[in-house]
Amino acid sequence: MVKLRIRQHVNPLARKYQTSPNTPDWNLVYLNSQRPLHLDIGCARGEFLLEMAKLILDVNFLGVEIRSPLVVNANLERDRSGLTHLHYLYGNINSSIETILKSLPAQVLQYVTIQFPDPWFKNKHRKRRVVRSELVDTLAKYLVPGGIVFIQSDVEFLATQIHHCFSSHPSFQLTHKNTWLGTNPLPVSTEREIYSMVRNKTIYRAVFAKKIS
Ligand SMILES: C[S@@+](CC[C@H](N)C(=O)[O-])C[C@H]1O[C@@H](n2cnc3c(N)ncnc32)[C@H](O)[C@@H]1O
Repeated sequence: MVKLRIRQHVNPLARKYQTSPNTPDWNLVYLNSQRPLHLDIGCARGEFLLEMAKLILDVNFLGVEIRSPLVVNANLERDRSGLTHLHYLYGNINSSIETILKSLPAQVLQYVTIQFPDPWFKNKHRKRRVVRSELVDTLAKYLVPGGIVFIQSDVEFLATQIHHCFSSHPSFQLTHKNTWLGTNPLPVSTEREIYSMVRNKTIYRAVFAKKIS
């Protein structure tokens, strides 16, 4: 995979990130757009989804990322791999999630991953964080009943905040007894996860399911 040198962070509240993305015709993007969909929010270089898509052939994968050069490169890599069930979309998830999910076929969203979102440590930057009540509301609206949200972070205060957003939402329930999962249930680790594991950082992980009724 080609490594790009790009900005580490962008401010998602900047005006240029408030416009909704041009959503594609999903019938042209995926070989079968009616398959269950896995949405990865903040997919960065897309390596996690690329490996997932190589392993799992009966699910469509969609990565959304705010840094456009990463998206261009990730789609080139997807093309080189010849995968017809993987796509990367440039966009600010906070200003575009409804537009994106509305454009997809109904009842396809089954899995959502939010992995190592930018922490924006300073309180004055908290509105830049990805997981907010509006995002959780929209996921609740579009996920199929029983649909899964997997979150992980090595920043305890952020993971706790995200956990609270989902566990206090009437449409979601934690799928495990303890607050945090001991291990990652997914077969592929993200770039940031590998970075954290190598440094022996504690990783906070949780899985929520959308309630059936
Ligand atoms: C710390 S990185 C983690 C990347 C990857 N998920 C991982 O675990 O390796 C967070 C990613 O989220 C992206 N991001 C931040 N805010 C975003 C937003 N509002 N919409 C879409 N992507 C966003 C960043 O550009 C960055 O690529």
